[in-house]
Amino acid sequence: MDKIVVEGGRRLEGLVSISGAKNAALPILAAALLTDGTCRFTNVPDLRDIHSIVQLLQSLGARVEQQDDTVVVNAAGLASSEAPYDLVRKMRASILVLGPLLARLQHARVSLPGGCAIGARPINLHLKGLALMGAEIDIQHGYVEARAKRLKGAEIYFDTVSVTGTENLLMAASLAEGETVLRNAAREPEVVALAEVLNLMGARIEGAGTAVIKVRGVDHLNAVEARIIPDRIEAGTFMVAAALTAGDVTLEDCEGEHLGAVCDKLVQAGVHVEQTPGRIRVQGTRSIESLDVRTQTYPGFPTDMQAQFMVLMSIARGQSIITETIFENRFIHVSELKRLGADIVVSGETAVIRGRPSLSGAPVMASDLRASASLVLAGLVAEGVTEVNRVYHLDRGYEHIEAKLQRLGASIWRERV
Ligand code: UD1
Repeated sequence: MDKIVVEGGRRLEGLVSISGAKNAALPILAAALLTDGTCRFTNVPDLRDIHSIVQLLQSLGARVEQQDDTVVVNAAGLASSEAPYDLVRKMRASILVLGPLLARLQHARVSLPGGCAIGARPINLHLKGLALMGAEIDIQHGYVEARAKRLKGAEIYFDTVSVTGTENLLMAASLAEGETVLRNAAREPEVVALAEVLNLMGARIEGAGTAVIKVRGVDHLNAVEARIIPDRIEAGTFMVAAALTAGDVTLEDCEGEHLGAVCDKLVQAGVHVEQTPGRIRVQGTRSIESLDVRTQTYPGFPTDMQAQFMVLMSIARGQSIITETIFENRFIHVSELKRLGADIVVSGETAVIRGRPSLSGAPVMASDLRASASLVLAGLVAEGVTEVNRVYHLDRGYEHIEAKLQRLGASIWRERV
């Protein structure tokens, strides 16, 4: 299994181009199942999670062609309505095919994703919504099986804001009969991006980006061409890398509007952030101020940036506090950061971080996607060498991370073990 080795202490400088958003590409690729027309998507990142969804679409009978950052999907020959365990266990977001399959084939059998390192991650809200739309749902032998002649519009309230839950129901409701209203819907930019693509396909969705989304169902959807929005989490990760190394990095092809909470916290930490259309310049400082961060749904501070900020706080002046409100077990990176010398105490959903002048390199183990990114970031500022093991997590969500960091001046490489 590959590992990433980082020699700390280099200041990052230069330009980095931000890739398309994994979390926007996944539901948008799943949406191609809703039509028999040919859909063409550009700016799709080259990532393990994207390969997983492509494999899943192909196993369902869709034809998928991939060249550079373009993915073309044609689901005219959709033959199977089953997403098997072997594909779903690789990536929880495979659950995104449930809504489209049910809407298009009146039947779906999808392996239950199960929990993961950061929490139990149930799908009860996806299922509750589909049931309210008239689906018969049965859970047996580790699979959820859903049937509906034609889904019917419904009033659906989310007890907890769910990103993929909102996306699954948006896709299902687009082909349902009548109007669906989603209340307490997720407002993430990736939800808005999906709604825009669905509308281009002929759906009638209003209110995406607010907590109440209305969908008037249509009889069928058409082919579409669309560009995937920039990855705000990859962008945020590079911003933290610049801040940590007192560097001067300009991000290209990014969307500053999606990064409000992250920019705000960096500015509070004493980092200089300058935005121009499509670009963000981040100039770090040798003296990072302590910060308090509470993860929230969008437009609040993203849980997917929590681990990266914890590294910044580990070298800040004074004491910082992180409160994780989205996932119950999203502090597994703490024990690894402590191996690098960070001073962190966790109690329930709160982590108290006492900043130290420096970290020291060591071998560490990645446990989930964003935790892996935080370990690479820690390696950039730790004295000596940090080895990040189990990097397949990182490859799920960061395109060419070591090459991008190398170009900014980091001493980082991949070793095949
Ligand atoms: C998505 C993102 C992930 C991000 C997360 C929160 C994708 C592919 N992944 O994950 O990167 O960290 O949003 O921003 O877009 N919940 C329930 N019942 C449900 C669904 C969710 O209780 O049916 C709970 C979850 O356990 C969690 C919270 O709701 O505590 C938010 O989860 P959710 O927004 O659904 O996360 P994902 O969509 O899986």
